[in-house]
Amino acid sequence: MKATPKRYLVTSALPYANGPVHIGHLAGVYIPADIYSRYLRLRGRDVVFVGGSDEHGVPITIKARQQGCTPQQVVDKYHEMIKKSFADFGISFDIYSRTSSEIHHKTASDFFRKLYDGGMLTEKVSEQYYDEEVGQFLADRYIVGTCPKCGNEKAYGDQCEKCGSTLSPTELINPHSNISGSKLVTRETSHWYLPLDRYEAWLKQWILEEHKEWKPNVYGQCKSWLDGGLQPRAVSRDLDWGVQIPVEGAKGKVLYVWFDAPIGYISNTIELRPNDWEKYWKSEDSKMVHFIGKDNIVFHCIVFPCMLKAHGGFVLPDNVPANEFLNLENDKISTTHSWAVWLHEYLEDFPGKQDVLRYVLCANAPETKDNNFTWRDFQDRNNSELVAILGNFVNRAMVLTQKYFGGETPQPGELTDFDRDTLTDVKEVKAKVEDCIENFRFREALREAMNLARTGNKYLAETEPWKLIKTDEERVKTVLNIALQISANLAIVMEPFIPFTSAKLRNILNADSAMLTWDALGSDALIPVGHQLGEPALLFDKVEDEAISMQLKKLEEARKNRDALSYRPKPQKELCSMEDFQKMDIRIVKILEAEKMPKSKNLIKMLVDTGVDKRTVVSGVADHFDPQALVGKQATMLVNLAPRAIMGVESHGMILYAEGCDGKLHLVQPAGEAKSGSCLS
Ligand code: 2FM
Ligand code: ZN
Repeated sequence: MKATPKRYLVTSALPYANGPVHIGHLAGVYIPADIYSRYLRLRGRDVVFVGGSDEHGVPITIKARQQGCTPQQVVDKYHEMIKKSFADFGISFDIYSRTSSEIHHKTASDFFRKLYDGGMLTEKVSEQYYDEEVGQFLADRYIVGTCPKCGNEKAYGDQCEKCGSTLSPTELINPHSNISGSKLVTRETSHWYLPLDRYEAWLKQWILEEHKEWKPNVYGQCKSWLDGGLQPRAVSRDLDWGVQIPVEGAKGKVLYVWFDAPIGYISNTIELRPNDWEKYWKSEDSKMVHFIGKDNIVFHCIVFPCMLKAHGGFVLPDNVPANEFLNLENDKISTTHSWAVWLHEYLEDFPGKQDVLRYVLCANAPETKDNNFTWRDFQDRNNSELVAILGNFVNRAMVLTQKYFGGETPQPGELTDFDRDTLTDVKEVKAKVEDCIENFRFREALREAMNLARTGNKYLAETEPWKLIKTDEERVKTVLNIALQISANLAIVMEPFIPFTSAKLRNILNADSAMLTWDALGSDALIPVGHQLGEPALLFDKVEDEAISMQLKKLEEARKNRDALSYRPKPQKELCSMEDFQKMDIRIVKILEAEKMPKSKNLIKMLVDTGVDKRTVVSGVADHFDPQALVGKQATMLVNLAPRAIMGVESHGMILYAEGCDGKLHLVQPAGEAKSGSCLS
């Protein structure tokens, strides 16, 4: 068994300050990191929990362009917003700083310089894409094109968000500028590279041999990168936003954001502990754990360790418990498509319910595979777990003690076998939860903690003190004493997961943290006999159907907007002559009858009034319309299309439809009532 480290350095991915944070961030990174840090502190370990905003890179500059402001204004706005959201949700960072800080620029710049001076970087001139209209080299997300792997026409120069492939701009088909939309030219430019290939053998030994305990998703991704062979990686960019390259003649070049961002963990620690930061970063007694999402694995397991190794003197991550992704109502969470539950909006809609979200996101965390957040599940877990199990148990224990003993902790009498079994279950929770948390199994840890409330509920349900009080007050004293001890244990064990509730529970028990220490978890004597409890209060309340419907409606709106934004019209057809056009007789008609054609999958037969006659026309639109809903509607029709037989019915013309943002067809109708037979001109 490994010796307990003297200190812990817990890092959480620095979110880009280009938008607010959402439930995906919380579930994937910040809740697990916070549970881990809170737990370590409760165990009396020396911990530094580092967070901060990632304020450089292309996403910020794109946002600035979109909003017509400077990158600094973008990061100022979102940094504050993100920082507040984390604080509101009780993410207990020891520091939450930012990469635009002076201290970060200096630290990152010095780091580069050390590698540069030590000959650890290579320099290479290469052809890169250049946007002549904007007058700038483009990289990463500035370039869009068709993904060679899945055909997505909106893949970025560094990644295809549809199939998840990592790409380089030269792999894109038909690359063009994401800024001006123009076709790109190539020009020569010089950059510095970190030769990852030189570290391949070392990485194979360090990860594949010495860190077999890493989570399978993390180990597997590292292995496939290493099996594929590593290439040198550019660590600079032609950009005017970021940490300037501290080399003469490198004007207009900055550190690649993925070079400077992880150095943010170091600079933020320096900012927090200017005098002794090195004991966390440079001592073998220190254990570093990176909490990240799966899209960050390569940077934290391969690139950053190589940077640290090249520099020398720093500890390497002991573990990188990356999570998979959380989806929202079965769709990928996306900032650009506004498909998310934003933390600040959640708190507007559910004030004071931070812990409900913390609980749901941990209970359903994407630890081993992508998971799905649904509002119905949120409601169920609140109503049937937090309210019905945890809240109900504590409330019963409190209210009954208040009622029978004036809120004073009663003296227990002789224990029954059932009491003793119950107390054994209570005792065992500590080791189970510790094992889970130490090994990054937070969902299971929470389940074990919640089982304690289940134990309590079962205990009261079976002993029925509310009935027993009529016949055996002494026995009720024992039962309620045990129920209160379980409640006190819950206040301890729930602290890493739902800290606001834990504080509330301590308050209603009138017991402070000195009384309820982690070390004492499992004890049957946390609350002394005669101790006066506080006022009973409900820990949770029900989430009603209306609140859920409102959230679903909000998402429905977002989906509509997203569909509208992502719709790409088909390219224009070849030119036609005026003569061609004039041959077509397009008129407004009225649909008189409509019925689904028997045995056909998708055909609707209609009788229409064209103004000059009444005739039959067949359309393949049964997937889009209920035939009855078409009756009486005006439509636009090409009336002189040569008749065609469709499944034995002769169709005399073609009704015109347009595709809506939702992918459904709509009738093309005149804005006002028009005469049947009026021609389009
Ligand atoms: O993926 C992201 O959101 C990055 N901003 C994470 C950076 S993590 C670290 F390196 F700072
Ligand atoms: Zn793709």
